[in-house]
Amino acid sequence: MHIHPKITPIYQTSVFKFEDLNELEQYFGEPGSRYMYSRNGNPNSDELAEAVNQWEGGAGAIATGSGMAAIFAAIAACCQAGDHVLCAADIYGGSSSLLNQELSRMGIAVTYVPFEQLYELGQFVQPTTRVVLAETMSNPLLRVADLQRLATECHQQGLKLIVDNTFASPVLTRPLALGADLVMHSVTKYIAGHSDVTAGIVVAADPELAARLKQISILYGLTLSPMESWLAVRGLKTLRLRMREHSHNALAIARFLQQQPAVRAVYYPGLADHPQHALAQAQGGGLFGGMLSLLLTDEAAVVNRFMHQSQRFPFAPSLAGVDSSMSYPLGTSHRYLTPEQQEQLGISTGLVRLSVGIEPVEELLADLEQALR
Ligand SMILES: Cc1ncc(COP(=O)(O)O)c(C=O)c1O
Repeated sequence: MHIHPKITPIYQTSVFKFEDLNELEQYFGEPGSRYMYSRNGNPNSDELAEAVNQWEGGAGAIATGSGMAAIFAAIAACCQAGDHVLCAADIYGGSSSLLNQELSRMGIAVTYVPFEQLYELGQFVQPTTRVVLAETMSNPLLRVADLQRLATECHQQGLKLIVDNTFASPVLTRPLALGADLVMHSVTKYIAGHSDVTAGIVVAADPELAARLKQISILYGLTLSPMESWLAVRGLKTLRLRMREHSHNALAIARFLQQQPAVRAVYYPGLADHPQHALAQAQGGGLFGGMLSLLLTDEAAVVNRFMHQSQRFPFAPSLAGVDSSMSYPLGTSHRYLTPEQQEQLGISTGLVRLSVGIEPVEELLADLEQALR
């Protein structure tokens, strides 16, 4: 009997069998010809890595146990002790914590570059600077980086560019096509898309960097498990459809929020008055994603009332699921910044981040209207 499953089965195994020494030699002689041990490679994690690699237009990718592992792998692929990283100041709080608290202990230093100065890196570059880390759309204020311009500036300075493309997804933006050297995702977010997987991915533009990633994944033990990989592959199949709905709903909600007296500011690149609206339009192919932030009165009691009142946006500190949610950057993702850094970035008591899902938009609008009232 021959079994031909349409969908790749879940290879829920940590190890694979060999007939004899000849097969073992075949494994080492012909990379990719078969499998040995799931930390080194597994059909499910490879399927996910290759699918995202294709979509992002890379030369090779690794699937990792989280988005944090992906950021670590991307930086480790380019830096060693004594090196220096430039990081956009507008960045996910976990990325800056990794740099400040852990990579610094391994001798990798960091300097933060204000958003406005991302295209004039000369004053920040040191002889040991190797890479720039930036987000396509920043967490949580949705500032949009001009990736082509940034890549040109990086290469003129002899630096590699790592782009965290989590908020945009490859449906909106493909950073490697714009000149980035590495692109990474928290797969936990849009790629898997259903708030039931923790995973990451890094894609390299050239084979040499891809090989470095593979070695780092194996030796640091970052490789994603079969089940999580399988779920993420399933999520990936609807990414294009989901991103359209997320974007459509978020635009309607951003426009609605702008009209509300209780809302002091709305941060969404799809709004005509967003400072990088034109860039976002061009770089996102007319879609702006499902993430937005809004500013209420800077009082915890006001935020708490809003959280209690909303039924469709539960307070859950993640994002990008098919079901809407809200998060609170000051208390979660950006908790460990200094109060000065939080203030400089505009992360204040009244700032709430919405992850707009794919539910019927009129239901979401009605929920927000009553919550704000
Ligand atoms: C933009 C961004 N990058 C990376 C991460 C880290 O991903 P993970 O939580 O999957 O480790 C997150 C998590 O919130 C994120 O928002």
